[in-house]
Amino acid sequence: METILIHNAVVMTMNEQDHIFTGDVLIENNQIKQMGERVDAGAVDRIIDAAGKVLLPGFVQTHIHLCQTLFRGRADDLSLIEWLKEKIWPLEAAHSEDSVYYSAMLGIGELIRSGTTTILDMETVQYTESAFQAIKESGIRALSGKVMMDHGSEVPLALQENTEKSLQDSVDLLEKWHGAGNGRIQYAFCPRFVVSCTEELLIGVRDLSAEYGVMVHTHASENLGEIAMVEAERGMRNVVYLDHIGLAKPNLILAHSIWLDDEEKRIIRERGVKITHCPGSNLKLASGIAEVPLLLEQGIDVGIGADGAPCNNNLDMFQEMRLTAYMQKVKHGPTIMNARTVLRMATMGGARVLGLEQQIGSVEIGKLADLQLLDLEDFHVYPSFDADWYSRVVYAATRGDVDTVIIDGQIVMESKIVKTVDKKIVLK
Ligand code: GUN
Ligand code: FE
Repeated sequence: METILIHNAVVMTMNEQDHIFTGDVLIENNQIKQMGERVDAGAVDRIIDAAGKVLLPGFVQTHIHLCQTLFRGRADDLSLIEWLKEKIWPLEAAHSEDSVYYSAMLGIGELIRSGTTTILDMETVQYTESAFQAIKESGIRALSGKVMMDHGSEVPLALQENTEKSLQDSVDLLEKWHGAGNGRIQYAFCPRFVVSCTEELLIGVRDLSAEYGVMVHTHASENLGEIAMVEAERGMRNVVYLDHIGLAKPNLILAHSIWLDDEEKRIIRERGVKITHCPGSNLKLASGIAEVPLLLEQGIDVGIGADGAPCNNNLDMFQEMRLTAYMQKVKHGPTIMNARTVLRMATMGGARVLGLEQQIGSVEIGKLADLQLLDLEDFHVYPSFDADWYSRVVYAATRGDVDTVIIDGQIVMESKIVKTVDKKIVLK
């Protein structure tokens, strides 16, 4: 494998000390081998001259639906349940093997172009194999799985599942894909949300996820209508119900979790459940404003995810970071969340949510080389400026500033061109 020396970058490590320095990072195989003001690497395969550029960990997005990328621009004025019934489920039901592949490839291209190197993804009921194929070919790091939904009469026929088959299809995919791509690909069980799952299915997911040691990815407490449906049917609020059936454990990742009561927050905290904040989606579907500062203060791991493309119209972590900060500032005042906290959520925070904090999320020796290099125009014009780098990246950088992206030691985007993805997408 290639050795790559990234030379003379401003390195934002996002390590415990939040160390920032100007210098070199050496990648050998898929790992960060050395770093410092000057690394004497000897002969290397590649030198990337990063003078005037900023190196930081690739973003970790903890809630994505690659299968929805093709559905962008639908249903701007609906709230969650109507939006699912009228738009998203019929579209998911219309998917084919090819369309899931193209949807995934388009999404991955966009994610990589905007600096995201790892995702937690939820697919649809069928054709998840195509998404895994796209993940494998593109080089992105991903946890993914087929969505599971064996309950609900208003679901299109193509998405209605038999409980046993849903569990068996998931296990078949897990056995084929978990650990593939040099460990870059993992399986995660994806029961869609309580509304569309029987108790039997959720108990099956509980047991199988423990048996295989994998994550469980679901939506919970996103919308008041959804919460009312769960309470009417199961007699409990979402998180209380998930705890009641033994799913509230450190491998459970809840997307949105906007409307949590005190008991639900206590369960999440005590059981080590993880949360994904989806600011763009929460605004566009008018779902609400999550209590992110409070959750972080309570020691709960909170990552950020764009959700599906139709939820907020893009998959861009730069936008999601800004929205995370803006929403809280408007609600609580300007000092509620600093830029460093937000960038931490987008990198190490996400890694912690996925249980990958030893592997990714920071620029440190021994970590996997998942990195992005930003080329910030004003840095060339005024290189000695003494800006707060966190504020600069969170509030001013855009996806157009992403110059190079490296995942698992492989350059997947160079000089703003996503190599592995762009040449493969052929839409008629
Ligand atoms: N809840 C259940 N399914 C979905 C989905 O596809 N998107 C969002 N935002 N919430 C959901
Ligand atoms: Fe979602």
